[in-house]
Amino acid sequence: MAKIEINNVYKIFGNTPSEVLPMVKEGATKEEVLEKTGHTVGLDNVSISIQEGETFVCMGLSGSGKSTLIRHLNRLIDPTDGDIIVDGTNVMELDEQQLIDFRKNELSMVFQRFGLFPHKTVIENVGYGLEIQGMAIEDRKQKAMAQIESVGLQGFEDQYPNQLSGGMQQRVGLARALATNPQILLMDEAFSALDPLIRSDMQNQLLELQSQLKKTIVFITHDLDESLRLGDHIGILNGGRLVQAGTPEQIIMNPADDYVEAFVKDVNRAKVLRAKTVMVKANEFNTNNIKLSEVYKVDESSYIEQFLPKVLAERCTVMVVDKKGDTKGYITEKELAISLSKDGYNQK
Ligand SMILES: Nc1ncnc2c1ncn2[C@@H]1O[C@H](COP(=O)(O)OP(=O)(O)O)[C@@H](O)[C@H]1O
Ligand SMILES: [Mg+2]
Repeated sequence: MAKIEINNVYKIFGNTPSEVLPMVKEGATKEEVLEKTGHTVGLDNVSISIQEGETFVCMGLSGSGKSTLIRHLNRLIDPTDGDIIVDGTNVMELDEQQLIDFRKNELSMVFQRFGLFPHKTVIENVGYGLEIQGMAIEDRKQKAMAQIESVGLQGFEDQYPNQLSGGMQQRVGLARALATNPQILLMDEAFSALDPLIRSDMQNQLLELQSQLKKTIVFITHDLDESLRLGDHIGILNGGRLVQAGTPEQIIMNPADDYVEAFVKDVNRAKVLRAKTVMVKANEFNTNNIKLSEVYKVDESSYIEQFLPKVLAERCTVMVVDKKGDTKGYITEKELAISLSKDGYNQK
């Protein structure tokens, strides 16, 4: 079973959402609903499964429903219709006390504007969730300090947030979210307020932490490059509707509509495509014409960016192998040309 199941969720903002719901279910668009009823469609029949240990990125333009979606997961927002199941629990069935415990223990949120307490030091901010959980001060300090070290902020523990740069403040935000060891991290545009270089550092830091921690992360962004770097799967929202969900490769290779196409049209495909996606399967490839000396081996999960220059310069053929070293397929110049050309990928 998935860690998070979002099943046919509708969210309509306004005075009488349940009266407007049938119209939305019959297919009226966000614009039509607003014009006819004055209600705003936040989410329109969204269903998503998020697996344990993956990073699911939710992407879309401003106003597409990203924050509305993530706030359903910790029930800051109740759906107009549909179910949200987190770790096997229907969050709508939690009573008040259960909901408090659920938010305290199961998931943590990292905010765009950091959301730190200005009058608390770094170590007090990081230990805040543990304090709420009732942990004794000495244990709390020890745990908080370990988290501070994990994000590279040792030495800054007694500083106040306004003494730190934006990037450092967001490291505090991340350390605070991780301190309670939640199963799920919710990150709503967490890196969007940072300068590009700092932002890229934070992405690296998150990838590194995640490779050890294997949390289930729901990460919201409006930035395609960030989605492609961080996401195991990406879901794209437009006007409250989920227009496409898939792996980065699936989205790059087969954008579902013009809206997704507009996002992916300028992306460097070589950075995203893996050998596995580009190869011709070994049993479908005629090896008669290639010389063994021109072949070299790559792992099927490597990005083609890494061997692209070699294939183009030396006209070699790439043999794609799995973890055991067995041959899975081959990539020649021709396959690369097809997968990299903007029009070619549609014609396959
Ligand atoms: N509390 C609210 N009341 C009324 N409309 C809202 C509310 N929250 C969000 N909306 C509307 O729902 C839509 C989705 O908003 P939001 O989820 O914040 O988008 P995003 O995070 O993708 O920018 C927008 O049209 C927004 O105006
Ligand atoms: Mg938002």
